[in-house]
Amino acid sequence: MDSPNSARYSSRRSGETSRRHRWLGGCRDANPDNRSNVRASSQNIMSATLHTRESFDHSPVMAEEIVALFGEVPHGVVIDATLGGAGHTTRLLEAYPWMSVLGIDQDDMAIEHAAALRANSADIAQRLDVQRGRFDSIDTFLAQRNIDSISGALFDLGVSSPQLDMADRGFSYRQDGPLDMRMDTNAQLSAADVVTGYEVQQLTDVLRNNADERFAFRIAKAIVAARPIANTTQLAEIVANAIPAPARRTGGHPAKRTFQAIRIEVNKELDILPRALHDAIRATAPGGRVAVLSYHSGEDRIVKQAFRDAESNPLVQTVASPFQHHQSANKLVRKVKVAERPSAREIELNPRASSARLRVIEKVGS
Ligand SMILES: C[S@@+](CC[C@H](N)C(=O)[O-])C[C@H]1O[C@@H](n2cnc3c(N)ncnc32)[C@H](O)[C@@H]1O
Repeated sequence: MDSPNSARYSSRRSGETSRRHRWLGGCRDANPDNRSNVRASSQNIMSATLHTRESFDHSPVMAEEIVALFGEVPHGVVIDATLGGAGHTTRLLEAYPWMSVLGIDQDDMAIEHAAALRANSADIAQRLDVQRGRFDSIDTFLAQRNIDSISGALFDLGVSSPQLDMADRGFSYRQDGPLDMRMDTNAQLSAADVVTGYEVQQLTDVLRNNADERFAFRIAKAIVAARPIANTTQLAEIVANAIPAPARRTGGHPAKRTFQAIRIEVNKELDILPRALHDAIRATAPGGRVAVLSYHSGEDRIVKQAFRDAESNPLVQTVASPFQHHQSANKLVRKVKVAERPSAREIELNPRASSARLRVIEKVGS
């Protein structure tokens, strides 16, 4: 189960950093050997990312695995469908001088951060193209650039640490903030609309479908009874009080699943994922790969289904990791159903990565 405060990377910020600067920062590379392997053409990227390391330090989840699996794809454009702090993207660009990235994010702050990275490095400016928007518009974004096929795509789903850590975005049950939770701050629907406008049954469905919340009905009734609800602190208290005391004491913060469910509803995260995965797989060239990092069962179910659908097309195949290739007799499909998880070492360094599941699909024909 995802935790609303379980972000994908840990952040270390200096106290008075501005909003924009909280996004600035670079990849943390725990392995000095990897750094020594960085190619000369990537030096600009390293200096751009190191430049802001003080203000934002994060570890993109399963970064080594992600970098490794894109080493084998045909050269060209990789889509980072969830650009965020560009942690994965900067690692990929560092590792592969032949690669260009089209980075997509619906959050203005991610776009501003990418713009700052581009401004700091001519190499990044040349190889990172940035698109503000939702990842279910991949087809449109590719068409606008006359790109027929891609080397692959990465989806690192959900919300990021910087988004969670900013109280005024309203994602966190730990900090007092407005009932917002929009990744795209121009979007119509906010958490306030869900919390104060949905009927009991609608709310129950949201909590069940998006977070497998056991006490969905009780919580939904409590929310409706407590209206008006002004902020995240109040919502978190209402949820905690609606959950029976023994259950309240287990499984982390009692409001975490409710916040996750409302966030998913506000951003329509699960609704748009199947189409985005389908379009990404379709656009991928033979030999290219689509990788998805998911963080809770609802996301993972959709990824599994999208990959199953793709497998029924004999031109694609799934692999659990780039290191376990298994070609079936007909040479068109290979399938390993085990999802990859972060190493114990990574979870120790970044506990927020613990719920991650990596699934990868590989195209074998067009
Ligand atoms: C987990 S973070 C990605 C972190 C990134 N991989 C990194 O290493 O810095 C997810 C990002 O995806 C964005 N996002 C989530 N759903 C999206 C969607 N449907 N379309 C576009 N961006 C989305 C969020 O705004 C957030 O910035």
